[in-house]
Amino acid sequence: MRDRILGLDRQTPLLDGSTVTYVNLDNGASTPPMMDAVEALERFMPFYSSVHRGTGFKSRLSTRAFDQAREVIAEFVGANLEHNTVIFGKNASEAINKLSHSLPHGDDCVVMTTRMEHHSNDLPWRDHYRVVHVDILPDGRLDENDFDRKLELYKDKLALVAVTGAANVTGYLQPVHRLARKVHEAGSLILIDAAQLAPHRAIDMKPDGHPEHLDFIVLAGHKMYAPYGTGCLIGPRHVFMECSPDYSGGGTVNVVTPTEVYWAGLPDKEEAGSPNVPGAIAMAASARALMKRTMKKVEEHEVELTKYALTELQKIPGMIIYGESDPEKLDRVGVIPFNLEGVHHSLLAAILGYEGGIGVRSGCFCAHPYVVSLLGLSHEEAENWRVEFLAGDKSRMPGMVRMSLGCYSTREDIDRLITMLRKVADGNYRGEYEVVRETGEYVPIGYVEPFEDYFSFS
Ligand SMILES: Cc1ncc(COP(=O)(O)O)c(C=O)c1O
Repeated sequence: MRDRILGLDRQTPLLDGSTVTYVNLDNGASTPPMMDAVEALERFMPFYSSVHRGTGFKSRLSTRAFDQAREVIAEFVGANLEHNTVIFGKNASEAINKLSHSLPHGDDCVVMTTRMEHHSNDLPWRDHYRVVHVDILPDGRLDENDFDRKLELYKDKLALVAVTGAANVTGYLQPVHRLARKVHEAGSLILIDAAQLAPHRAIDMKPDGHPEHLDFIVLAGHKMYAPYGTGCLIGPRHVFMECSPDYSGGGTVNVVTPTEVYWAGLPDKEEAGSPNVPGAIAMAASARALMKRTMKKVEEHEVELTKYALTELQKIPGMIIYGESDPEKLDRVGVIPFNLEGVHHSLLAAILGYEGGIGVRSGCFCAHPYVVSLLGLSHEEAENWRVEFLAGDKSRMPGMVRMSLGCYSTREDIDRLITMLRKVADGNYRGEYEVVRETGEYVPIGYVEPFEDYFSFS
């Protein structure tokens, strides 16, 4: 897989003036481009033209490629396009927002989600529904008893149950098909936010009408090795046919009179304006490559690396792992949140980056309630932090460091991380850092980044 990922050989600068091959352990945020996506774009872009309404050959070809991209994405998740539609947008957040506009609304309508969601699968629901959150267990897993209880309690008012396929903080995999069965028995529909799941595990929506069918799926291209500004929402055609589009405008209509609008069919009605055709093509090319190399192999490789990472991390003095730390309990993807005792998470992430050439992420990962709970912060501690934060001081922001694997990650990548973490645990790092109050980031004092040597527009 490594030779199919762009840029893995790139040297990046370190604080001491040397350079090193970059190690990306921040795949949970965004993945680098897969060559299949890059090459598909190289082949396609000379023919790029407007889709749908153009009559020239390039337009006809672009329209066909754009439609084929939907078919590939449908195949990637096992969706039947007779009953379902694939709607392209710019990312997973937009897709979830779209669905929050598309489902029936009512004063009393409830959307049930969980306490482990990314904000993108929580906040959009708050705008339109009464949101009920399913609790988590002390180890950060979903409390399925609470899920059952709340499902029973709210089933008459439920517009949707929206759960993540894989948690972006702890990597926990949800039993999506089991939950789907329960949701259907309660008479409702389920959305799986598969932004974090898709790059790690095969997704199977199962046939429409199957008790374990996944009604809606959300994907993000930039987490699937196609970072070209595309995400998508897959779901039943009838749901989108029964509502007005969230955005209206060019391409969404069949007929417009001075007073009336007759909406177009799907997916046009839901894709206002000129779409990101290259993004969709890149995403489909990458999805196709993942299917070809098989998600089973991606999974096996990642399981082996996750075990290795968990085992090695726990040998480091002062290491605190959040969520599951047992290397044998693998109801998770390769996402591991941790802290090193006595070192602020943001400082640790900075040292890894500036002195180790290792990309990770630190903070609360757009999942504040979940992280606060995993950290075991008291109500008062969380409140104090919020007050400081809202007053513009993020320097004491609680959080963790997150390493997240990609299909191309290696043991050597993990070894590089472990070596650096050991150094930090021994206090053996060189830089002097200061915290930027407004952002909470740690930066080396006096260091000027040599960005111009690596990329500039000139
Ligand atoms: C589980 C999950 N859902 C949704 C999102 C939001 O994705 P996007 O940035 O594509 O909107 C993320 C991003 O990290 C995520 O991890």
